[in-house]
Amino acid sequence: MAHSPDNPAQALTAEPSRALSGRIRVPGDKSISHRSLIFGTLAVGETIITGLLEGDDVLATAEAMRRLGATVTRELDERGRPVWRVQGVGVGGLKAPEEALDFGNAGTGARLVMGLVAGHPITATFVGDASLSRRPMGRVTVPLAMMGATFQAREGGRLPLTLTGAPRTMPITYELPVASAQVKSAVLLAGLNAPGVTTVIEPVPTRDHTERMLKAFGAKVDIVPHGVGGLAIHLTGEPELTPCPIIVPGDPSSAAFPVVAALITPGSDIVVEGITLNPHRAGLYTTLIEMGGDIEVMHQREEGGEPVADLRVRSSALHGVVVPPERAPSMIDEYPVLAIAAAFATGNTVMNGIHEMRVKESDRIAATAQGLRHNGIKVHETDDGMTVEGRAGHVDGGGHVVTHMDHRIAMSFLVMGLGAQKPVTVDDAAMIATSFPDFLSLMRGLGATFVGHRQ
Ligand code: S3P
Repeated sequence: MAHSPDNPAQALTAEPSRALSGRIRVPGDKSISHRSLIFGTLAVGETIITGLLEGDDVLATAEAMRRLGATVTRELDERGRPVWRVQGVGVGGLKAPEEALDFGNAGTGARLVMGLVAGHPITATFVGDASLSRRPMGRVTVPLAMMGATFQAREGGRLPLTLTGAPRTMPITYELPVASAQVKSAVLLAGLNAPGVTTVIEPVPTRDHTERMLKAFGAKVDIVPHGVGGLAIHLTGEPELTPCPIIVPGDPSSAAFPVVAALITPGSDIVVEGITLNPHRAGLYTTLIEMGGDIEVMHQREEGGEPVADLRVRSSALHGVVVPPERAPSMIDEYPVLAIAAAFATGNTVMNGIHEMRVKESDRIAATAQGLRHNGIKVHETDDGMTVEGRAGHVDGGGHVVTHMDHRIAMSFLVMGLGAQKPVTVDDAAMIATSFPDFLSLMRGLGATFVGHRQ
């Protein structure tokens, strides 16, 4: 569990590791997991979900769906695997929640559900933890207000905020000012209950799980090229959504941690099974291969409407690269761990066009640069990027890293400690439970050593 009075911040140290080896399966994709619960709620009838990520972020969305009227249950199948069932209420069928909807650390849950509620004539209050309460919400409240929703929020539109959906939602055409799948999804979710066609224009394509799921549940969605490299997504409102069984594939953003750990820990040879390599999510893997990473893509297949593969990863001598800025949306959550790989590479790795990293669970450019410096790595930081000077496999380590309530900063620097000369300590490993509750046990199973310290 992430922070609670019974679960204070817990410092953790990663020891320099022997070679990592073995096969693992990482938990279900976080983006797809949130959406499966939301679409299950909007369908008429029962949606069955297997492979759902049972991290705190997704569990908060499950609880929000219950408060909005869905029946959400969990049971184990005959092989002991969790099966989630959602009895939906249909588009337009949400009830006003009696209590605030608490999204904890989860920006995706909060923003998507704001879109969902905005399309219904109900009032709901959205709250979150200290990290989420610092994150910008204007990016969703602006288009949702154009569709008829009203908001009471703190200055800057941050949480906690109270949203009242439109009595009659208006379809809009909205061009995304930032490359954000969360904003796109919020507008499309509100557009589901609007008469007519809602259009989202994205100058740079972002993850398309919402569009895939809309189609799978029977909505009419047309996606056409727009401008240079962009897309226009047209959604016809007021469909009746039909339940569709969902198999959630492994999360490439979680797989990134064992993959980089194996690349930087000498002698390692691991397999990570069943991760989605949806092209809008696979930018890290393309980049690591360009850096000389020995990553073999095996058993490519399609599962639950997403491309899936197993990855065999062996430790590699990496070299620095310039990451094309247009690749950023397909790996936006992976730059912290890419920066760790870059620290072990020969030469510089240049990452630009990543200003969005500054408004994630923490300011991830600042947090990553600070953590690298504390471990003997030189970093040049700009407003929208950073350049990491690689140490050709010889990273000092020995640092104490501040994670700023950010699960991915915590996991990235624990990974660094496995390949470094000296142990690396993070101030707080508790937030890892938001996205990857089994991280420590899976990594220990591959041979990693972590030592905890109560604070
Ligand atoms: C997500 C979109 C991304 C990503 C987040 C998950 C989603 O955020 O960083 O972890 O599931 O739609 P933005 O849309 O704000 O870039």
